[in-house]
Parts: sequence; structure tokens; C-alpha cells
Amino acid sequence: MTFPVPTMPAPPVSVVGLGQLGGSLAAALVHAGRPVSGWDTDPAARDAAAARGVTISRELAGVVVLAVPMPVLGTAMADLILDPDATVTDVGSVKAPVLAELGAQYGDRLVGGHPMCGTERSGHAATDPALFTGARWALCLEPGTDLRRWLRVAEVALAVGAEVVPVTAAEHDDAVAAISAVPHLLAAALATAAGQAGPLALALAAGSFTDGTRVIGSDPAFVTALVEANGGPAAAALDRVRAQLDRPWAELVADGHAVRTATRGRRPVRVPLERAALLALGRSGGAVSRRLAAFVEGWVPEA
Ligand SMILES: NC(=O)c1ccc[n+]([C@@H]2O[C@H](COP(=O)([O-])OP(=O)(O)OC[C@H]3O[C@@H](n4cnc5c(N)ncnc54)[C@H](O)[C@@H]3O)[C@@H](O)[C@H]2O)c1
Repeated sequence: MTFPVPTMPAPPVSVVGLGQLGGSLAAALVHAGRPVSGWDTDPAARDAAAARGVTISRELAGVVVLAVPMPVLGTAMADLILDPDATVTDVGSVKAPVLAELGAQYGDRLVGGHPMCGTERSGHAATDPALFTGARWALCLEPGTDLRRWLRVAEVALAVGAEVVPVTAAEHDDAVAAISAVPHLLAAALATAAGQAGPLALALAAGSFTDGTRVIGSDPAFVTALVEANGGPAAAALDRVRAQLDRPWAELVADGHAVRTATRGRRPVRVPLERAALLALGRSGGAVSRRLAAFVEGWVPEA
């Protein structure tokens, strides 16, 4: 027999940077009926968020989400008022260097994060309250991470429809090098090479070219920050791709097709609120889908 276990109370949320990621998060929280405040240096972004029901304020409390470009993550709160009890998280696309910088400022109040969603668009006009629905949201569980604060941030991610993947910063950076930095670099190389092929090639470009180059339509400053901040893992991941390109093409196509089209079911699991168990869930390719009082519910891929 099972008994219902109450979910935990939701913390207030403040979002700094109300562009694509931050504006979407704030809008999704408003949509979920949660009070949310926010700040942006751009008055137009503040106005757009206010029109969606976000309280514009320089005072930050509860779970404070830094959703600014990575180069300004360390300075974005310099002129703002941060509650001493606030939990600070970020949505930066690379984790180890960001945690090193922010950890020096916020110590164990910091929980690094990275929602695996977003488009090639940027700014408040790219706000989409459904952006996080069904997305994976990596949340860093370092040896010094305060698990209670980690859970507070996890609750915010779950509230907007994401699934939480417990990771270490180093494991995250290796993984996203393969599935984010390399695709951005390959898209840039593909587009540049097609440009060299001449106007006829570009005139004939259709689905394959469009799909393979979409992400290099992103703001170049964003892409440059994303790949350079993750330089070591990105270079190693790119070496693996170069090695693949040297294989016989028929074998390479067959292997790539098998990975891309594989479908795996999900097996539900319950995981205790304990670092090693949560990280094991993330490493297995699983995610947390619900937080309960003494454990989390989630899933792992079927073997
Ligand atoms: N775009 C993506 O696909 C994606 C995906 C996951 C994570 N991220 C990360 O999310 C973060 C934000 O990316 P985005 O795509 O939302 O960018 P964006 O350009 O759409 O939004 C950034 C916002 O931050 C504001 N801003 C800049 N400096 C500020 C400051 N000092 N104080 C307050 N506000 C400031 C800008 O005015 C803008 O509204 C980045 O760290 C990025 O690495 C992006």
C-alpha cells in the first residue's frame, strides 16, 4: 500500500537577465501561478517581462537565477541587492569555469545549472513560456553542494516542466562538448564550406543543409563564449568527430544511423536524496521528474 507524500513548498524566484532563457523562465513561472521578480539592464526587456506579470525589482530573494550572457555572470549582481539567505543558480552553457568564478563569490549558496533548451534566437522577443516543457535541466551536485539548496533549484526546474539531471560540472562539460559545442562548430564549418562551394550550392541548399547549420544562426558572441569556455572538452570531442570522418563511409553512416534512431523506453525509479545515488541516476541517462519529501521520482532508460 502506498501513501500520498506531500510535495515541498515552492520558493520565490528572482531572475536576472530577462532574455530568451530568463524571460522564458519568468514567464513560465508566472504561467504556473508562481510569484516571480526579475531584473535586466535593458529597459525593453524589463517592460516586456512586466507586461507578462513579472515584478521588476533590484531586490533578489529565494532562488536567484542568473540568466545573463556568460561573460557577465560574475558581475551581473554587482549593483543589485541579494538576500543573504538566497540560493544562487545560473543557466550558463558551461559549468566548470562558471562554478569556479561564481563559487568564489557565493560559496555553498551556489548551485550551477544548465537547461538543455533554447533556440538560435536571442533577447526578450524570443521569450517562450513553453521553452522548458520536457527539457532536461542539468543541475550540478559537487562535493560541496548543499543538497537542500540543490533541491530548491530542482523544484524551480520541475515547476516549469523540465526534468532534472544531476551532474558534476566536469561530467556536464564533457557531455555538452559532444552534443552542443561540436554541433555549433560543425555547423559553422559546414556553412563556411558551402559558401566556398559557391552561389549554386547555396541556391540549392534545402533540408539537410538547413538542419545541419541551424545553430550557427545564433548570436556569434553566444557561440564563441560557449565553445571557448569549454575549450578542452570541445577540442577532445572534435578529435573524436575527426576520427569518425576517416572511417569507411558505409560503416560510419550505419553506426550514426543506429545511434540517432535508437529508441529506448523509460523505467520509473525512486532515488534517495543522496548525492551518489542522484549522480548515478544522471550518469545512467535518467532524470528526476518529481520531488517528494524523502526521495525523488524519476526514470532511467531501459537496457
Ligand atoms: N540560447 C540558448 O540556446 C541557451 C541555452 C541554454 C543556456 N543558455 C545560457 O543562458 C544565458 C542567457 O542566454 P540567452 O540565450 O537567454 O541570452 P539573451 O541574449 O537572449 O538574454 C540575455 C539577457 O541578459 C541581459 N543582460 C545582459 N547583461 C546583463 C546584466 N549585467 N545584468 C542584467 N541583465 C543583463 C540582456 O539585456 C538580455 O535580455 C547564457 O549564459 C547562455 O549560456 C543559452
